[in-house]
Amino acid sequence: MSTRLQRAKEATSKILGQAAGPYVVDAICDHGEGVYLFDQDGKRYLDFSGGAAGTNAIGHADPRVTQAVVEQMNKISHCFRVLWINERAGELAERLIKVSPPNMKWCNFACSGSATTEAAIKLAYQYQLEKGKPEKSIVISRWQSYHGNTLGALSVTGMTSRRVKFGPLLFPWPKIVAPLCYRCPYDFSYPSCNVRCAYALDEMINQVGSRYVSAFIAEPIGGAATACMVPVAEYYPIIREICDKHDVLFIADEVITGAGRTGKWFAIEHWGVNADMIITAKGMNSAYTPLGALLIDDRIGKFFTETDAQFVHGYTMAGNPLSCAVSLAVLDIIEKEGMVERNARLGEYLHRRAREKLSHHPTVGDIRGKGLLIGVELVKNKETKEPFAPTLKVGVRVYLIARNKGCMIYPTTGVIQGVMGDQFLAAPPFIITEDQIDTALDIIDESLTEFEKEVL
Ligand SMILES: Cc1ncc(COP(=O)(O)O)c(C=O)c1O
Repeated sequence: MSTRLQRAKEATSKILGQAAGPYVVDAICDHGEGVYLFDQDGKRYLDFSGGAAGTNAIGHADPRVTQAVVEQMNKISHCFRVLWINERAGELAERLIKVSPPNMKWCNFACSGSATTEAAIKLAYQYQLEKGKPEKSIVISRWQSYHGNTLGALSVTGMTSRRVKFGPLLFPWPKIVAPLCYRCPYDFSYPSCNVRCAYALDEMINQVGSRYVSAFIAEPIGGAATACMVPVAEYYPIIREICDKHDVLFIADEVITGAGRTGKWFAIEHWGVNADMIITAKGMNSAYTPLGALLIDDRIGKFFTETDAQFVHGYTMAGNPLSCAVSLAVLDIIEKEGMVERNARLGEYLHRRAREKLSHHPTVGDIRGKGLLIGVELVKNKETKEPFAPTLKVGVRVYLIARNKGCMIYPTTGVIQGVMGDQFLAAPPFIITEDQIDTALDIIDESLTEFEKEVL
């Protein structure tokens, strides 16, 4: 092992949480270029997972972003929102609102996806409070979901592995089933199921009492917890109707799916439904710097401004001019290069080729997702959908084989009751080409073959 790698490993081992999880972190991420990442020895990896799941949109080390950073840094990197008008944040709010669904007219900034989820939970509550309904405080969410690691965000997260050690610290808020057709929680089939999983929200609100419920939060298309579950066409229209019936706000968490990854600027648009708030982060500035944004429906924003009921929330570094300049440069690139429309087309290619190249594998139970977001569920028995024993950590094994062959994917677990089920997902930068998609899928195909020799 090189001295540099040894020193870096020793130093990072002092960072608590750094080595959490079973991923075997044994290489320095030295630099990136387009869709590729390079380690300390110059070995190249195709970044098929886009950083973590779907973090990178425009590719690594884009010189246009570097230029925007330098220009902004030479002017001002931070100014406090209470004392100054932050011009870049204003510009970014306008830009985000322009590409958002038409009901979104207001914006609030944070420094991460988790912190934006916190803002959404608090804004939902303060809105209900100011409207004279202070009891409306509970946020309902779904099992097999991820909304962040801070305590409010973790309270609405349904990913058991992330929650289980912090149970006593979390709000005991209720969760409904995930709309996962491949593993229908009711053992029904679509369409004869009549989308029972969506009506679970109505049942839960009735049980809890609608006077106590402020909001429902969901990822329009699942991320890490389900590896890209896509609900059926009727699902969100039903959810919207139920929320309206009970005066419950609908928060769409688009941290992964926003910024055009699924072929529309925001994934909820695929269902023709308006959310009351959209949480976005990751792709909106390609994670070049920390940033998150909450997009807010006009009636909520107007209520706060017209009644002078200030939203009592903010972070010192939220929407700092530097991160906003980065995001403006990233949005420029996404728009000028027509990436959202391209993602829709390229997404069809990705999903078709993934089916052609991977579905013959005896361990590939399901391939799902939309646009440049794709998930694969691994099973021991394709007929019965029996999962592998969790101790085998099969998702991580496939990830490690693929990684050795130069392709990064993102393994997760827990799609079955939070404790079983293995998946991996891919969410490449938008600049990926068809040839690079084929290369990545060929590596995954080979990796699955190798893994199957070990386990079947
Ligand atoms: C859907 C979703 N929401 C929220 C978060 C939390 O974002 P962050 O890690 O930036 O706090 C994530 C992160 O992966 C996510 O995928």
